[in-house]
Amino acid sequence: MTRIRKAVIPAAGLGTRLLPLTRALPKEMLPIGDKPVIEHTVRELVASDIEEIIIVTSGSKDLIQEHFRPNPGLVAQLREAGKHEYAESVREVSELAHITYMYQNGPYGNGTPVLNAYRILGDEPILVLWPDDVFVSEVPRAQQLMAAYETTDAPVLALMPMDPAESSRYGVPIVKEDLGNGCLAIGGLVEKPEPRNAPSPFAAIGGYVVTPGVIAELEEQTRRWYDRPDGEIYLTDAFNAHAAKHPVYGQVIDGTWYDTGTPEAYLKAQFAAALTDPTYGPSLRQLAEDLSAASAEPGANGRPAAPAPATFPGWAGRWSS
Ligand code: G1P
Repeated sequence: MTRIRKAVIPAAGLGTRLLPLTRALPKEMLPIGDKPVIEHTVRELVASDIEEIIIVTSGSKDLIQEHFRPNPGLVAQLREAGKHEYAESVREVSELAHITYMYQNGPYGNGTPVLNAYRILGDEPILVLWPDDVFVSEVPRAQQLMAAYETTDAPVLALMPMDPAESSRYGVPIVKEDLGNGCLAIGGLVEKPEPRNAPSPFAAIGGYVVTPGVIAELEEQTRRWYDRPDGEIYLTDAFNAHAAKHPVYGQVIDGTWYDTGTPEAYLKAQFAAALTDPTYGPSLRQLAEDLSAASAEPGANGRPAAPAPATFPGWAGRWSS
């Protein structure tokens, strides 16, 4: 079996669900705690011994490269000013991993960035992680996926138990067999089913071990795309085509999952990162308690409770869906 050494992070999406925040700021650069969300993904890979990373991006996302690029001038300036900790933090980010950037080029759909990267990666299994999810876990999600691949020698999808009402946001696996330790043999994915049609209580959460067999299916889709150029190239379709002929597995990830792709999910991730911050957590928890107490106080003379005092100017209605 070929060891997994490389990962692809597709990062060319428009971030439509977070507009207008993402007009100029790539959604991958939104902060979760003290780091942009994509840095959490890069650190997860590094903690899983993956140091060759390809970020597939678009022309409007130069800030991602700017964040990770070496900046010796700034490091020197900070050192001269005696700000050694800041200097070290700037240097460390640029030395985390070997990151190569590519522009996404080809049909619409999340299979295209994987194919773009694969052309320069060669014939080996790779990890693909969407940068919208953050995991807090003892063993990094990427490592849990690789362990499942090492046991099964087959493609693997990252899964999490989901709120059944949310099934129409995710790919939902058809579970064939529970192999123990969270590893499930799956017969494919139903993409974004209504709750009553969801084949299992799990969601595919944007982490994949993609093998050359899955790539062959993506290439097949691309060939068909030239006959029907309005089509889209999706990783789910490639996994389904592969699962029709070969084993495919899902690994239920042991950890806490924060999606950051919608306004509510992003705010929850940011809130959780703030409340659990080792330095600032206690005072932020106090603030949360004060705000909840203020909004729970009943109004005088039977009037409805006063709204929470901290509604920021311009907030209401911006993120309505
Ligand atoms: C994609 C996948 C879907 C998966 C989801 C996870 O959908 O197609 O199977 O559950 O990512 O975030 P998207 O959210 O890009 O529409």
